[in-house]
Amino acid sequence: MSPLARRPLGGEDADGPGRRAKLRPADLHDAALLFAWRNDPATRAASHHAAPLAWGTHLSWLQSALADPDRHLWIGELEGRPVGTVRAERCGGAWRLSWTVAPEARGCGVGRALVSRAAARLTGPLRAEVKLGNLASQRIAEAAGLAVRAEVDGVLYYERA
Ligand SMILES: CC(C)(COP(=O)(O)OP(=O)(O)OC[C@H]1O[C@@H](n2cnc3c(N)ncnc32)[C@H](O)[C@@H]1OP(=O)(O)O)[C@@H](O)C(=O)NCCC(=O)NCCS
Repeated sequence: MSPLARRPLGGEDADGPGRRAKLRPADLHDAALLFAWRNDPATRAASHHAAPLAWGTHLSWLQSALADPDRHLWIGELEGRPVGTVRAERCGGAWRLSWTVAPEARGCGVGRALVSRAAARLTGPLRAEVKLGNLASQRIAEAAGLAVRAEVDGVLYYERA
C-alpha cells in the first residue's frame, strides 16, 4: 500500500499548469539559481544535509557535477522560466534521483512533471530517498514509477527495478 495518505484532489491539482514543464541540461550560468534553491529553508529541511551551503562549496560542486559523466543535472523550465531542478547520480548500477522545485513554482504539478520526465529518460534501476513527512515528494516518486522498498530512520527508500 502507498505510504502516502491520499488527499482528495480537485481538477486543478490533477491537471496543474506545471505539468508542461520541460527539462534542459544545466550549465554554469545556472549557478546562482541552483544556489538559491539549495539554500531555501524547505529544501534544506528535506535534505540529508540541512546546513546552508557556502557559495564556494556550491560552485565547486557544480563544476564537478557538470564534468561528471556519471551525473545528469537538469533545469526544469515552464514557459521559458526556470522552475526546478532534477539531479541523477549513478551509484552502484542505479541512478539516484533527487529534485527541488523553485519556491514560487510549488504546488502546480512542476515536481511531478520534471521527475517523471527525468525517470523516462533514464534506463535501468532508479533510486530515491524521501523523508517520511515529505508527502508531495512521495507522490512524485510514485508517479515516476518508483515504489518503496524500505523505511529506515524516517527515510523512505524508493526504487524502480
Ligand atoms: C516537494 C516538492 C519537490 C514538491 O514539488 P511540487 O512541484 O510542489 O509538487 P507537485 O505540485 O508536482 O505535487 C506533487 C504531488 O504531491 C501532492 N501534494 C503536494 N503537496 C502535498 C501535501 N502537502 N500533502 C499531500 N500531497 C501533496 C500534489 O497534489 C501532487 O499529487 P498528484 O501528482 O497526485 O496530483 C517541492 O515542494 C520542493 O522542492 N520542496 C523542497 C525540496 C524537496 O522536498 N525536495 C525533494 C527531496 S526528496
